Parts: sequence; structure tokens; C-alpha cells
Amino acid sequence: MATIVIRDTEEIIKGQEKVQAFLESQEVLYEHWDPTKLPAQLQDNCHITDDEKAQILTTYDEDIRSLAERRGYKNWDVIALNENTPDLDSLLKKFEQVHTHTEDEVRAITAGSGSFVIKGADVGYFDVQLEPGDVISVPVDTPHFFTLSSERQVVAVRLFIDPEGWVAHKFNDPAFTSN
Ligand SMILES: [Fe+2]
Repeated sequence: MATIVIRDTEEIIKGQEKVQAFLESQEVLYEHWDPTKLPAQLQDNCHITDDEKAQILTTYDEDIRSLAERRGYKNWDVIALNENTPDLDSLLKKFEQVHTHTEDEVRAITAGSGSFVIKGADVGYFDVQLEPGDVISVPVDTPHFFTLSSERQVVAVRLFIDPEGWVAHKFNDPAFTSN
């Protein structure tokens, strides 16, 4: 289940209802897909083949199509990051710059973990720490970045309106300090 940490106040928000209510107040969609739906060998497994990626999409087909229909997403795929990912460190450095997109950034975590750091409407930056089953949509034009947790591995379903819309636009924010 996702945990929120508000950076300025160090307030921690836990529990599905509270997390959902907070994210709703920030216009960030959050939902939960049953992580135990996955075949056992894909649970907690971030080293997956292309066939296994397809299996993840089949497992969550109903959830994916429901979300896509509600939000207008047209394409989806699966991304896996782990210690074998070429240039993981430089990739993470690139990820960890505050940026925006011209469409929502949607991730459903199916294994591993990671955080979105998002600029809230009125609370400054907050971290959304995600684990398997957590589904988030960072709204269009909202400054954010993604980072892995200390386990440094994740598998996520991504949904797009247009994969071209995923281009990152750097957001220079003097108010942002990483910690
Ligand atoms: Fe992004």
C-alpha cells in the first residue's frame, strides 16, 4: 500500500482511504490492483522475460482496460528495471530531475518498489512510495520525478494516450531541494 511523505512538514500518510483522499485532493489518481492475481513466479520478481511481461498484461487486462476507458489511455506496456539494466545509475539520474509531461504519467507497480515525488497544489513536494498493487496517474503538466527505492528494482505497467506524450520537459524550480 502506498505511503505519502510531505517533505516540508515530514507528515506521513498511510492507509488506503487516507492515501486516496490526500491524492484526490492533489488531483492525483490512485487505485489498487490485487498483486496476488499474478502467477507466483511473477510476484516480487523484477527479472522477467518478454513472455512474462505479456503475461502481466494478460493478468491485469480487465484492470488496464477499465482504467484506460475511464481516462482515455490508448496504449500500454511493461517496464522492468533491475541491477542488470544497462546504465541504471545514469538512467536514475535522468529520472530524478523535476519535469512535466503533456499527458498523464501512469504506472501500476507489479513488483519491486519506487517513489514519485510530486509538486502538490498547496503542500509543496510530497513523496508517494509505491509497492506492488499501487496504481498512480500523475496529471498532465504536474512537476514530478520518479526514483527507485533502496532495493533498486521495479516492474510497472505503463499506460499512455500517445507514447510521444511521454517526452519529459525539464521544470526548473528554485523551490525544489532534493533530500
Ligand atoms: Fe515523468
